Amino acid sequence: MLRILLNLLVIVSVTTADALPNTKLLNDGNRIPIVAYGTFGKTNEVAIIKPAVIKAIEAGYRHIDTAAVYKNEEQVGEAIADVISRGIVKREDLWITTKLGLDVGTREGVLTSLQTSLNKLKLDYVDLYLIHTSLNLLDLPEHDYLNVWKGMEDIKKMNLARSIGISNFNSSEINRILANSEIVPSVNEIEVNPNYVDLGLVAYCQSLNITVMSYAPFGFLVPRPYLNYTTSLNFENPVLKRIAQKYGKTSSQVMLRYLMDRDTIPIPRSTNEERMKLNFDILDFNLTENEIYQINELNEDAKVYDFYDESFFTALADYYGL
Ligand SMILES: NC(=O)c1ccc[n+]([C@@H]2O[C@H](COP(=O)([O-])OP(=O)(O)OC[C@H]3O[C@@H](n4cnc5c(N)ncnc54)[C@H](OP(=O)(O)O)[C@@H]3O)[C@@H](O)[C@H]2O)c1
Repeated sequence: MLRILLNLLVIVSVTTADALPNTKLLNDGNRIPIVAYGTFGKTNEVAIIKPAVIKAIEAGYRHIDTAAVYKNEEQVGEAIADVISRGIVKREDLWITTKLGLDVGTREGVLTSLQTSLNKLKLDYVDLYLIHTSLNLLDLPEHDYLNVWKGMEDIKKMNLARSIGISNFNSSEINRILANSEIVPSVNEIEVNPNYVDLGLVAYCQSLNITVMSYAPFGFLVPRPYLNYTTSLNFENPVLKRIAQKYGKTSSQVMLRYLMDRDTIPIPRSTNEERMKLNFDILDFNLTENEIYQINELNEDAKVYDFYDESFFTALADYYGL
């Protein structure tokens, strides 16, 4: 009898957890909101981030994506403090993702970097802490992402981050982590959009139950002034338009829904209140499998953020003031 009651209790609790709206279960048991609000922008314009994050949370976003390198964690922290103090949300309603500084290449450096971020964010813990990249972009004398991952495991055990993950890791780098670590990353944050659909890496992550967060969701359909690439895609593309008309949505909303229906978490960024709301208004429709295939076919294998290209990183760093 007791066993039956216990089983019932488990079923009820699993069902309740699954019913939590607009969240997705991670491989560590935490539930992550399925749309994130992106905050990357020019570092000399960080003042716009506080009001933008406040508006985003008021519009319904519960997941904020920042990073040490964006130099806006203080503004994000002020926005969080503001919405909590006004009773709009409680801390536990929010999911805050931030990323390790690019200046950390060792296990020991992780805790210090996270503590700096926590101070700026005015938080006791973050919900998700990511290694920003596997690459040694700053030519540090000591750098191994595997050692850095051990530091990530340390801070998870200290409960300073509820979940830990990686960003911009390819499949062989993920494999090296899996072969040599205790904790499987919960998330890989990578570029996915109709210009760069990355079927292989998304599938590899998903086969390992690593959730994909899709950054730069609008690809080259929005201006990327520091790059020389011209895409044949735009918001008037007939495939995007046809699907948008069918659901009474815009092409931009279809692009975000496409990422959700591939079971990834899109991270749109907009500081414009109208577009911010539009980008969140994607929870009431679904694409068919065939519509997903049609958008996959738009792929040009063109990445906005190609960190392997040194000249790209220089141009990006100059433009954004990194
Ligand atoms: N982990 C990483 O290495 C990494 C790398 C890049 C980005 N990210 C994350 O991903 C987020 C998104 O990437 P992103 O900032 O490159 O690009 P994005 O969200 O693909 O595009 C942002 C641009 O699109 C415009 N926009 C937004 N919504 C629109 C809409 N509905 N219609 C037309 N234009 C629209 C925005 O202008 P307005 O503001 O004027 O609307 C802005 O110029 C970042 O903010 C960051 O949090 C992570």
